[in-house]
Amino acid sequence: MADEPQSTDRAPSRRRFLKSTLAGGIAAATAGGAAAQQAVAPVATSGNPKNLPPRVPSWTQVLGDGVATHPYGKPSKFEKHVVRRDVEWLTASRESSVNFTPLHALDGIITPNGLCFERHHGGAAEINPADHRLIIHGLVDKPLIFTVGDLMRMPRTNRVHFLECAANSGMEWRGSQLNSCQFTHGMIHNVMYTGVPLKVILDEAGVKPAGKWLLAEGADSSAMTRSLPIAKAMADCLVAFKMNGEALRTEQGYPIRLVVPGWEGNLWVKWLRRIEVGDKPWYTHEETSKYTTLMGDGRARQFTFVMDAKSVVTNPSPEAPLLTKGRNVLSGLAWSGRGTIPRVDVTLDGGRNWREARIDGPVLDRSLTRFYVDFDWKGEELMIQSRAHDSTGYVQPTKDELRAVRGVNNIYHNNGIQTWLVRATGETENVEIS
Ligand code: MTE
Repeated sequence: MADEPQSTDRAPSRRRFLKSTLAGGIAAATAGGAAAQQAVAPVATSGNPKNLPPRVPSWTQVLGDGVATHPYGKPSKFEKHVVRRDVEWLTASRESSVNFTPLHALDGIITPNGLCFERHHGGAAEINPADHRLIIHGLVDKPLIFTVGDLMRMPRTNRVHFLECAANSGMEWRGSQLNSCQFTHGMIHNVMYTGVPLKVILDEAGVKPAGKWLLAEGADSSAMTRSLPIAKAMADCLVAFKMNGEALRTEQGYPIRLVVPGWEGNLWVKWLRRIEVGDKPWYTHEETSKYTTLMGDGRARQFTFVMDAKSVVTNPSPEAPLLTKGRNVLSGLAWSGRGTIPRVDVTLDGGRNWREARIDGPVLDRSLTRFYVDFDWKGEELMIQSRAHDSTGYVQPTKDELRAVRGVNNIYHNNGIQTWLVRATGETENVEIS
């Protein structure tokens, strides 16, 4: 896209911390900060010195729980701070709400099912798969109705993809506001989906030559509807029924959801019940009043489908401060809706010096990619940023570069470079440099 801002290599000439300069932002930073405190991992202590080496600890001296204690496994009780959390003031009701993935507490590239952020417009529908159907109609030769069982007997495929809400980082357009990695970047998850290519389903119905768009509708109370170009539907979309090997979670669209690789999360219709083929978009309320981008000059961008390259350092971050001097691991995530992530740069000094991060684990198309920098911390103040490069050559822009093109009256598609200030105490804050 012509107006897509790219990063430049300029180091900041002038430093300015925009710490919640907006009146509303001050309250917001406080709210985010308080919640962030609760999410910080407790400092490791056994509570009982008798359990420490060289003594034989107490748990070695008794039998543990039997195998039938947890028919469905749960995380250790010492991990109970690792949960999805929400920002109370962000949404009006629980049913039309969002919570966030605790990115700072995770590693690798796969998001555990129970920690995938949720975004519902009318609550999570509870559907018995025996009563669920997928209807295909409109400009097709043969309208069809599939049961979930029918879909599970069709050729299936496995794909790892990120889903990012277009509003991820949306509260940060005017300055740093939420003092939390979970809240600034946690509207994203990365899952291995198992499902049927949408092309296989559409080919069975036979799309008429005039069919250029489709409408996908959910069976939840919001009956969420979005228009999707048929070319994208045929290229790589899935009707998924499994995530990370098990059935979709209720809140992620059980029994079936649409997977739209690399495109904004609201297109990934959950509890998918209907696909209508048409010759033009439907201009539903999700693509007119919402999910459009208001530009600086008052015009709006519509159908901004692709999620551009972005990255964030998850450790250290406000919920994961530096606790120890000396050997430390900086860790983060990068992703792009246009391809893979071949390279991530990291700076520890606010952009004066950049180094290439070590990418580790699978580098997959339109998936989260994990990066690390192994470093020695002497207790000095750090200004940490990461910058993603994607396989198309696109480079993640600074927030100021983005604002220069898009203005600040925006919620969606904020992929600007994030800055964390690490103080000498190790505490880490959301700030901006410009
Ligand atoms: N599908 C239905 N039927 N209803 C919804 O409210 N929310 C959309 C999308 N699909 C939504 C939906 C939005 S805005 C996003 S960002 C993603 O689902 C969130 O997916 P998740 O809850 O699995 O994280």
